[in-house]
Amino acid sequence: MEIRKVGVVGLGTMGAGIAQVSVQAGFETLGRELTDELAERGRATIDRYLSRGVEKGRMSQADRDAALARLTLTTDLAELSDCDLVIEAVLEDLGLKRETFAELDRVTAPEAVLATNTSALSVAEIAESTARPERVVGMHFFNPAPVLPLVEIVRAPATSGEAVDAAYAWAERAGKQPVRCNDTPGFIVNRILIPLLNDCVRVLDEAGVEPDAMDKAMTNGAGWPLGPCALIDLIGIDVHVHASEALHGKLDEARMAPPERLLKMQRDGRLGRKSGRGFYDYPR
Ligand SMILES: NC(=O)c1ccc[n+]([C@@H]2O[C@H](COP(=O)([O-])OP(=O)(O)OC[C@H]3O[C@@H](n4cnc5c(N)ncnc54)[C@H](O)[C@@H]3O)[C@@H](O)[C@H]2O)c1
Repeated sequence: MEIRKVGVVGLGTMGAGIAQVSVQAGFETLGRELTDELAERGRATIDRYLSRGVEKGRMSQADRDAALARLTLTTDLAELSDCDLVIEAVLEDLGLKRETFAELDRVTAPEAVLATNTSALSVAEIAESTARPERVVGMHFFNPAPVLPLVEIVRAPATSGEAVDAAYAWAERAGKQPVRCNDTPGFIVNRILIPLLNDCVRVLDEAGVEPDAMDKAMTNGAGWPLGPCALIDLIGIDVHVHASEALHGKLDEARMAPPERLLKMQRDGRLGRKSGRGFYDYPR
């Protein structure tokens, strides 16, 4: 099937990034937010990133203008009725996602592909809220979505091969590097990366290593582009803790549980880059 128009539900951190990817790739894109103010904030975020691209010579002013012109906004989910692909990026809450999908199922054409950007919920449980689970896939983007190439294309047991192929092909057309996988907790990257980062944090205390020494060890000894402490600061301590708890809840392996050190950092408001302090200080 040909995807001409894309809907993005939620223009928060991920949704705005995904909508940007879509308009930059030439797709008419309709973004839905709860209020006009939030929708305009989403557009402003996209505008800021595109304009920075122009300043840095990565894109022309005309391309920026054309990309922004492909973005329309709404607060009404029913207006997504003519979208061929809808990517949902609302809060990580199963009830909310199921409600959103049930409504999307009612308003979109039966052949439209409905995708969720969930990190830790089951795509199958979201799909069950629709009458077309065969058209529901996971499209797990990474943050920041316009920068990181990977998209995990997640197939739940009821998902048709055609829907997976349509999502995969769209991601490729949008300039991404999609990879197919099954609907298992953490999919590919988080299943591996979350316990690994937790191990790194535990080793800080077990082996008496300072964060900068840990980062030096893993960049120089394991070839990581970024050390684990710098990476957790970038992800956000709260986001990482939440993802660890979700994975631990599903797989019940001790390594998945957030280390006490991270829980304490979260209690102290040391959330990483965004709060100005995490493993490192980030003067503003
Ligand atoms: N942040 C990340 O690093 C990351 C990476 C990959 C996937 N994800 C997933 O993407 C999704 C969105 O995460 P985010 O980081 O963009 O969150 P965010 O907090 O930046 O945005 C949340 C969005 O949900 C909307 N929302 C909140 N309450 C709502 C309601 N009651 N009804 C409808 N919409 C509502 C908000 O308006 C906003 O658009 C989550 O499922 C998350 O797991 C996040």
